[in-house]
Amino acid sequence: MAVDLLLGLQWGDEGKGKIVDVLTANYDIIARFQGGPNAGHTLEFDGIKHVLHTIPSGIFHKNAVNVVGNGVVIDPVIFKKELDALKKFNLDINAKLLISRKAHLILPTHRLLDAASEASKGKAKIGSTLKGIGPTYMDKTGRNGMRVGDLELSDWKEKYRNLANKHEAMISFYDVDIQYDLAELEADFFKAVAALKDLTFIDSEEYLYQAQKQGKKILAEGAQGSLLDIDFGTYPFVTSSNTTAAGACTGLGVAPNQIGEVKGIFKAYTTRVGSGPFPTELFDEDGETMGRVGNEFGATTGRPRRCGWLDLVALKYAVRINGVTELMMMKGDVLSGFDKLKVCTAYNYKGEQIDHFPYNIEAENVTPVYTEVNGWKEDLTKMTAADQLPKNLMDYILFLEKELEVPIKIVSVGPDRTQTIHR
Ligand code: IMP
Repeated sequence: MAVDLLLGLQWGDEGKGKIVDVLTANYDIIARFQGGPNAGHTLEFDGIKHVLHTIPSGIFHKNAVNVVGNGVVIDPVIFKKELDALKKFNLDINAKLLISRKAHLILPTHRLLDAASEASKGKAKIGSTLKGIGPTYMDKTGRNGMRVGDLELSDWKEKYRNLANKHEAMISFYDVDIQYDLAELEADFFKAVAALKDLTFIDSEEYLYQAQKQGKKILAEGAQGSLLDIDFGTYPFVTSSNTTAAGACTGLGVAPNQIGEVKGIFKAYTTRVGSGPFPTELFDEDGETMGRVGNEFGATTGRPRRCGWLDLVALKYAVRINGVTELMMMKGDVLSGFDKLKVCTAYNYKGEQIDHFPYNIEAENVTPVYTEVNGWKEDLTKMTAADQLPKNLMDYILFLEKELEVPIKIVSVGPDRTQTIHR
């Protein structure tokens, strides 16, 4: 049985949490393969709104087992908070949530290093979520990191101390004003590690291999989006993991020939949080309307998201890099009310019109070339079937399918589980 993937195709916040939650009924296992608590996956059902950061979005479904894969970085302090928030739902956490021993740990000093690095960059800062993601992946690739499996060894505190001491020296090297009380941070950290140690640790690549052999259906859940990928995103304004399809192979130990459907999620427009280039960004009333109607505020940091028209040049690039086989369009309802919609179908790149995603997409290199289409006025949020969708929205969908050469299988018309139209 192949492993299906679910990936964000833009700069994150496409609505992966909702879609995983909708799709979980079809899967036995949901596995997160990269990122950490920089993610904020929002789920809405039965009048409840719940945000998950590290725990996979299948946690609320009765039969789904949720795996935190080796490619994920875990902050025990945030993880404990997530577990505490789940207590009221009476879930059998030890059976439903399994953690890879090979996942790396975010230490309090990783968070401080993130803050010090950002402060030292001034205006050139990445706009990191300050969750310690970059420094933790740096320690992973630098072969200095601490992994979940280390917590089962008797000398883990010694290992922790050595690494934290090194980090403190690095923080002072940055020569920026970062105020902190490490003793207090460590007290929280050790308490949280004790809670983490009560969970079920596994060799997740072996678990997933055996599950696949038994015919279990597995969905690999991505975090962030393709344009934040460490290799293919808008470097250096990216996150520190591979958010694209290949990241699911390395982040779970699933072989490339075992990948089945690649489900790609995009918003009917574009958003971005943090710094970095964004060719179709709007600074006018249209952008303000998208942000207000779409409630575009970061689920992790609360920061307002930058908004703009759909960028098909970037979306095509993401579809190709990931080998997307099915698309899901989110937040079509937010665009209701616009007379005309713009879609970026090419870039003017240094005086030449191109339709591929170039090395530099900063405003001085790239100006978007737009195609204008008719908008729709109808409220979509109560619609339940594709034949109820307004003609102009259907034309928008057909136009995108033709450009992207991949079918749009789901159209989401609101945040709730039930506001999902299958085509
Ligand atoms: P980091 O992953 O916290 O290091 O942040 C690096 C960049 O990725 C920043 O621009 C963040 O705003 C962005 N980012 C990280 N996680 C997410 C996410 O889940 N959604 C959207 N943007 C994200």
